[in-house]
Amino acid sequence: CIFVDNGLLRAGEAEQVEREFSGHFQTDLHVVDAKDRFLRALDGVSDPQEKRKAIGRIFIEVFRKEAESIPDAHFLAQGTLYPDVIESGANPDGPAATIKFHHNVGGLPEELGFELIEPLRDLFKDEVRRMGLELGLPEELIWRHPFPGPGLAVRCLGAVSESRLNTLREADTILIDELRKSGMYREVQQAFAVLLPLQTVGVMGDCRTYEDVIAIRAVNTDNFMTADWSRLPYELLQRMSTRIINSVRGVNRVVYDISSKPPSTIEWE
Ligand code: XMP
Repeated sequence: CIFVDNGLLRAGEAEQVEREFSGHFQTDLHVVDAKDRFLRALDGVSDPQEKRKAIGRIFIEVFRKEAESIPDAHFLAQGTLYPDVIESGANPDGPAATIKFHHNVGGLPEELGFELIEPLRDLFKDEVRRMGLELGLPEELIWRHPFPGPGLAVRCLGAVSESRLNTLREADTILIDELRKSGMYREVQQAFAVLLPLQTVGVMGDCRTYEDVIAIRAVNTDNFMTADWSRLPYELLQRMSTRIINSVRGVNRVVYDISSKPPSTIEWE
């Protein structure tokens, strides 16, 4: 297996992938640190679809290169699910318009050079989880909230930079930590932080601040095709907000997203 670390993962996530693939699955895992290449490709790119395309392109380039070191490497397996196929407009039965190019559907080159296998392509998330339980995969892996292929790049609105990714990562870690501590992690299907591309005025001691805004997104959904915003307890939202503002440098405001899908989508980009 090849694991491409694109630098767009959450805190500790690369290490977790390595642990699971070497420990539980006991595969010969090739880890490629490609953070710099992805960051360079994203430099100055703020359009969401362009971000997805750039990430898909670099992913394939890095993957191809690493695969050359493996004799007879033949397959590229992807965890594409049915909603990815529909929303990328790749299915004849789906809506005509492309809502988002899921990087794993729309971003692949025509001449892949590998045989593509997508064993989960016809399944919804709840069905994938049932299959995971059936196959005896670790529970933590099965119940993990989904995380998009383009990663934090589509949650760092506007231009992506290493320092903005770090800000977002810190806020997201606090949000998930508080969600887990409250015992509600499994009661919402997806929760995450979004870093907005604007600054707002705040006050710290006697001084005026002009800093970033973090949005909290949490949804309840059966299949991710439609979703309702989660009615998280005010006390939990307050703990998230206070901790984020107190400990993430450069953030002076936290807002809560109360929009449902449709007409909004779950991710902001
Ligand atoms: P949206 O934002 O489309 O999200 O309502 C529905 C589900 O899909 C995930 N998502 C993606 N997954 N590549 C992925 O692999 C993508 O480009 C992508 N965009 C959204 C999203 O996190 C949610 O679970």
